[in-house]
Amino acid sequence: MSGPNTDYDPVEVTPLKSEEVDAARDAALAAIAAATDLDALKQVRIEHTGDRSPLALANREIGALPPQARKEAGQRIGQARGAVNQALAARQTLLDVEHEERMLVEETVDVTLPTDRIPAGARHPITTASEMIADIFVAMGWEVAEGPVIEAEWLNFDALNLGPDHPARTMQDTFWTDPPEDHTVLRTHTSPVQARTMLTREPPIYVVCPGRVFRTDEYDATHSPVFHQVEGLVVDEGISMAHLKGTLDHFASAMFGEGITTRFRPSYFPFTEPSAEVDLTCFVCRGSGVVTVGDVSGTEHQTPCRTCRGEGWIEWGGCGIVNPRVLTACGVDSGRFSGFAFGMGIDRTLMFRHGIDDLRVFFEGDLRFTTAFGSEI
Ligand code: DAH
Repeated sequence: MSGPNTDYDPVEVTPLKSEEVDAARDAALAAIAAATDLDALKQVRIEHTGDRSPLALANREIGALPPQARKEAGQRIGQARGAVNQALAARQTLLDVEHEERMLVEETVDVTLPTDRIPAGARHPITTASEMIADIFVAMGWEVAEGPVIEAEWLNFDALNLGPDHPARTMQDTFWTDPPEDHTVLRTHTSPVQARTMLTREPPIYVVCPGRVFRTDEYDATHSPVFHQVEGLVVDEGISMAHLKGTLDHFASAMFGEGITTRFRPSYFPFTEPSAEVDLTCFVCRGSGVVTVGDVSGTEHQTPCRTCRGEGWIEWGGCGIVNPRVLTACGVDSGRFSGFAFGMGIDRTLMFRHGIDDLRVFFEGDLRFTTAFGSEI
């Protein structure tokens, strides 16, 4: 191995010549000054301070110099690199600030600009209400059952103990499909889903069924040939009216708020025995039948509640203990099992929940109505 070349003249090592170092430094400084954005500066950094940059290559030559020459060459290169790094840092700070400011300007949202005029739309309130009801029961471990809207006459009527002479079977109430020999109807209530469920599942049965139903009603503010019901059915051992009452009280408070409960009035339905009409505590006057209003002079006085017409209660639906004849018709052992069932109108429920006085808003597809409800009810 040969020792250091003592005759070696550092001035002859081209990259280390003072003019060369100055030129490399000046080229770097000029490039830094000319970099107008962060990307350009990144490129300049690679070209002028990277491993293959003139100053880095020159720096590597120092080691080859005789010791006495290293110091001066080292200082010269060190100063040049220091100046370049300093200029880079200063330029970086400047361009960072500029970038930040430009982003702020570019990303500014002009809140005064007109909004998008394409309406986003909203889910229909009947859909969201049906889902909300289903959720209340699913939370208690029930299942959601479904059935077809075009239904067999036997399931819509006979299985539910609606004998051939029952008034609901007359042409007046029911849409029959052609040809009549098919014995098929547009279901007049969600109760046939009870029969379908019992025919296809073994007890214990806990199902809720929201759905669309049809009757040959006039189309006016309180009637429509199509509307929506929710049906509930439980079949298990030892089911009593107490379970029905507790379930409906829970449903009422979950749907309308704490303190809202139900009362039963004796009634008749062919598919339940005993049967009851279910009323709901009026959630506006909270059962008192009166509300306090203030007039223009600020004097307060009490007037009958408009929502329940001073009754304190609102009619909600029908319910009862499943008639053993229905259990038997649907293949359930009525000696061992008993059940309860209930049914209410979803449209009606929404009408009094939101003070809607015309049923037709649900069916006319006016976006101003559905959007006002949003996806929430
Ligand atoms: N299906 C009845 C109707 O449409 C409502 C109803 C009443 C359903 C009592 C039931 C029930 O399940 O037990 O008017």
